[in-house]
Amino acid sequence: MSFLSLLFFFSLNSTALSQPSPPKGTLIDCGATNASVIEGQQWLPDTDYISAGVPKTLTIPNILPILSTVRSFPLGDGTPRKFCYVVPVFRNGKYLIRTTYYYGGINGRDSPPVFDQIVDGTIWSVVNTTDDYARGLSSYYEGVFVARGKMMSLCIGVNSYTDSDPFISALEFVILGDSLYNSTDFTKYGLSLVSRSNFGYGGSIIKFPDDPFDRYWEPFGDSNPIIQSTRNVSASDFWNLPPSKVFDTELTTDQAKPMELQWPLVSLPKSFYYISLYFAGDRDISVGSSRIFDIHVNGIEYYRNLNVTPAGVVVFATRWPLSGLTKITLTPAAGSDVGPLINAGEVFNVLLLGGRTITRDVIALERLKNSLQNPPADWNGDPCIPRQYSWAGVKCSKGIRIRVVSLNLSNMGLSGSISPSIANLTALTKIWLGNNNLTGPIPDLSSLKWLETLHLENNQLNGTIPPSLGDIGSLRELFIQNNYLTGEVPNNLKRKPGLNLKISPGNRFSFATPSSRT
Ligand SMILES: *[C@@H]1O[C@H](CO)[C@@H](O)[C@H](O)[C@H]1NC(C)=O
Ligand SMILES: *[C@@H]1O[C@H](CO)[C@@H](O)[C@H](O)[C@H]1NC(C)=O
Ligand SMILES: *[C@@H]1O[C@H](CO)[C@@H](O)[C@H](O)[C@H]1NC(C)=O
Ligand SMILES: *[C@@H]1O[C@H](CO)[C@@H](O)[C@H](O)[C@H]1NC(C)=O
Ligand SMILES: *[C@@H]1O[C@H](CO)[C@@H](O)[C@H](O)[C@H]1NC(C)=O
Ligand SMILES: *[C@@H]1O[C@H](CO)[C@@H](O)[C@H](O)[C@H]1NC(C)=O
Ligand SMILES: *[C@@H]1O[C@H](CO)[C@@H](O)[C@H](O)[C@H]1NC(C)=O
Ligand SMILES: *[C@@H]1O[C@H](CO)[C@@H](O)[C@H](O)[C@H]1NC(C)=O
Repeated sequence: MSFLSLLFFFSLNSTALSQPSPPKGTLIDCGATNASVIEGQQWLPDTDYISAGVPKTLTIPNILPILSTVRSFPLGDGTPRKFCYVVPVFRNGKYLIRTTYYYGGINGRDSPPVFDQIVDGTIWSVVNTTDDYARGLSSYYEGVFVARGKMMSLCIGVNSYTDSDPFISALEFVILGDSLYNSTDFTKYGLSLVSRSNFGYGGSIIKFPDDPFDRYWEPFGDSNPIIQSTRNVSASDFWNLPPSKVFDTELTTDQAKPMELQWPLVSLPKSFYYISLYFAGDRDISVGSSRIFDIHVNGIEYYRNLNVTPAGVVVFATRWPLSGLTKITLTPAAGSDVGPLINAGEVFNVLLLGGRTITRDVIALERLKNSLQNPPADWNGDPCIPRQYSWAGVKCSKGIRIRVVSLNLSNMGLSGSISPSIANLTALTKIWLGNNNLTGPIPDLSSLKWLETLHLENNQLNGTIPPSLGDIGSLRELFIQNNYLTGEVPNNLKRKPGLNLKISPGNRFSFATPSSRT
C-alpha cells in the first residue's frame, strides 16, 4: 500500500503562552462594499479581486455580518463557465483557503444551487449546501494549497447540475506555517478538508485565537466516555500546531476494551486521504503504568504500540486509501494498564493538482484581455485548465505543455484593439475575431508559424495589412473584408498559393499599378 505513516514524539518544554496575533492572509467579504473588522480580524470588500458577478444583500435579519452579502454569478446557458477571484499571494506560500456559502434564498427559490469550486487549475469540490441550508446553517469548505505564482484564483464554476445563479459569501486565504501538513508534496497535491474534530468536546467551534491559523475544530461526541481536564499541552511542539485547547477533552474507554470510533461521520468517496490523529495522556497516571495501544483504520494497522505521554503525540498518514465509512479502532497493548484515548483528528482528501497553461500564453492572453474593452466575463483564472472550464473561445493543446491553439471570439460584441501580444501565442493555428467592433491596426503576427486561419472581417480595423502576414507559410484562409484598412494589399499575399483571401467589400485599398503612374 502506498502510504506513509510517521510518528513524532516531543519533549515537554515550558514555552510561555503569549496572546497570538491574527493569522496573516486576505479575508474577503464577498458582495460587501465596505471593509469591516470582525472578532479582531480585518475583512475586505471583494471589488479589487473580481470583476464578474453582482453583489447582493440578503434580507434576513440577525445573520452574521460575513453572511449578509453575497456575490452572485449569472447562470448563462448552462455550459460550463467559471468566475474567478484572483488574490495576490506569496509565491510558494502555503495557504489555507476557506470558502463560505450561505444561500439565504437569494435566487427566489427554496433550494440553493449546486456548483463547482476551482482552485487555480484544479476542481476542488462540488459545493452542495442543500442540507446545511435546510438546517439553517451556512457551509464552509477548507483546503490547503501552495501558491505556484504570485496570484491564486478561486473560481465558482457553473456546471450541468447548476440550476440557478451560483454565489459565494466569503473567501479566506490564510498563510500556514511551513511545518503544517508538510509531508504532503504540495507541488503535486492539494488537501481538501473532510473533517477536523475535537473528540469529546461539546462547545462551539474552536478557531482563532485558540488556533493560530484560524482552522475550525468541530465538536465531536459519540457513545464513548468523555474526559475533560485542563492539560496545558504545549501545542507549539506538535507538527501541524493543533491548538492546545483540543487536548483538554478526549474520548476514552476502559483499560481492557478496544475503543471504536466511526469517524468521520460521512461516507467517503474512494480516494487517498491525509489522516492525522492527536493524543496526549493524563499527567496523573501512576508512575510505572503506561498507556500503550495499537491503532487500526478499517481493520488495517495504522500504528503499533503507540505510547501516549502527557507531552502528546501526533500520528499521521500522508496518503491512506479510504472509501465508504471509516472505523478507527484503538486496542490496548498487552500489559498496558490504562485504556486508550484520543483528543483530535483531521482527515483531508488528497487532490491531484491539475496542470496549468504555460506562463507565456497566460501573459499574452491577459494582455489581449486588457486591450479589449469588454472581454468575456469568464476570462479569469487559468485560460485552459480545468479543461471543461477553459475560457470562452479558447481551445488548448493536451499533454504536459498546455498551450492555446485556437481563439474564437467572433460575434461577441467586442470593442477595443487587438493587443500585439497575440503574436506571443505562438501555438495558435486559428484566430476568429470577425463580427465585432475592434479598432486599431492588425498587429504583426509573423511569429505565429502555425497559423492557418485568420478571420478579422466585419470590424473597424484601420492601418495597413502587415506584409509579414504573407510570410506565414501555413496560412490558408485570411478574411479581412469590411474594415477600414488602407494601403496596398501586399503582393506576397495576393500571390500566395492556396490562400483563400477575402479583402472586399469595405476597406480602402489603393491598387497602384506602375503603369498608371505618370
Ligand atoms: C460604506 O462606506 C460608505 C462611504 O465610506 C458609506 O457612505 C456607507 O454608509 C458605508 N456602508 C455601510 C453599509 O456601512
Ligand atoms: C445536493 O445534496 C442534496 C442533499 O444531500 C442531494 O439530495 C442532492 O442530490 C445534491 N445535489 C447534487 C446536484 O449533487
Ligand atoms: C516538517 O516539519 C517538521 C517540524 O517543523 C520538521 O521537523 C520536518 O523536518 C519537516 N518535514 C519536511 C519534509 O519538511
Ligand atoms: C496550567 O497552566 C496554568 C498557568 O500556565 C497553571 O496555573 C495551571 O495550574 C496549570 N494546570 C495544570 C493542570 O497543570
Ligand atoms: C465561433 O464561435 C461562435 C459562437 O461564439 C460559433 O457560432 C462559431 O461556430 C465558432 N466558429 C468556429 C469556427 O468554431
Ligand atoms: C458595434 O457598435 C455599434 C454601436 O455601439 C453597435 O450598434 C453594433 O451592434 C456593434 N457591432 C457589433 C458587431 O458588435
Ligand atoms: C512576448 O513575450 C516576451 C517574453 O515572454 C515579452 O518580453 C514581450 O514583451 C511579449 N510581447 C508582447 C507584445 O507582449
Ligand atoms: C485608426 O483609428 C484610430 C481611432 O479609432 C485613430 O486614432 C488612428 O489614427 C487610426 N489609424 C490610422 C492609421 O488611420
